[in-house]
Amino acid sequence: MKSAVVYRSQTGSAKTYASWMAEEVGCRPEPLENIESAAADAGLVVFVSWFHAASIKGSKRFQAFMAEHPEKRYAVVAVGATPMPCDLWPASEHEEAFRRSFPAESYPDLPWVYCRGGFHFERLGALDKIAMRIYFKMLEGEIARGNKREQIALDGMREGFDDCNRSYLEPLLEQLGLRG
Ligand SMILES: Cc1cc2nc3c(=O)[nH]c(=O)nc-3n(C[C@H](O)[C@H](O)[C@H](O)COP(=O)(O)O)c2cc1C
Repeated sequence: MKSAVVYRSQTGSAKTYASWMAEEVGCRPEPLENIESAAADAGLVVFVSWFHAASIKGSKRFQAFMAEHPEKRYAVVAVGATPMPCDLWPASEHEEAFRRSFPAESYPDLPWVYCRGGFHFERLGALDKIAMRIYFKMLEGEIARGNKREQIALDGMREGFDDCNRSYLEPLLEQLGLRG
């Protein structure tokens, strides 16, 4: 079965995951804008994109394509700056954020995975720089109230980081039957 990988990315993390995913399924990653041609004869279509204020960029466009082509299989790689699931950031929070864009009622069987990307302030568009400066101020308020998570989050974003890691895709590759 032929597969397609489409992506939305601003600073490169989702594009990196899209390239890895494309290698796994044997195709070339294409920007989401090209979904009609890239996915025309694909049986599996993987959408890779990033969290922007708890919603997944481009998800409406991808969902429109899903609705037009119910015969295909789909999967999503959701990329964010939030650490991978751990004690301070339980998996339920990633699930909750994902479900804001892909509610369980409408997408009960959609395979997906959360992958931590990076944070590169200098590569952001002007509006996102403003949004992040406001968010940093908000985090400083939380830190003043003694909130440990916010301190870790703010330190990471101020410094910038790249935590893209191919192994984060493994749970999805297993779900799709591409392992073992
Ligand atoms: C305005 C803005 C809002 C963001 N909101 C979230 C968020 O709600 N959750 C999260 O985990 N990451 C959030 N991020 C971080 C990005 O998802 C992260 O940096 C991702 O790696 C960017 O992907 P890209 O490099 O493909 O553009 C946000 C980033 C920006 C600029």
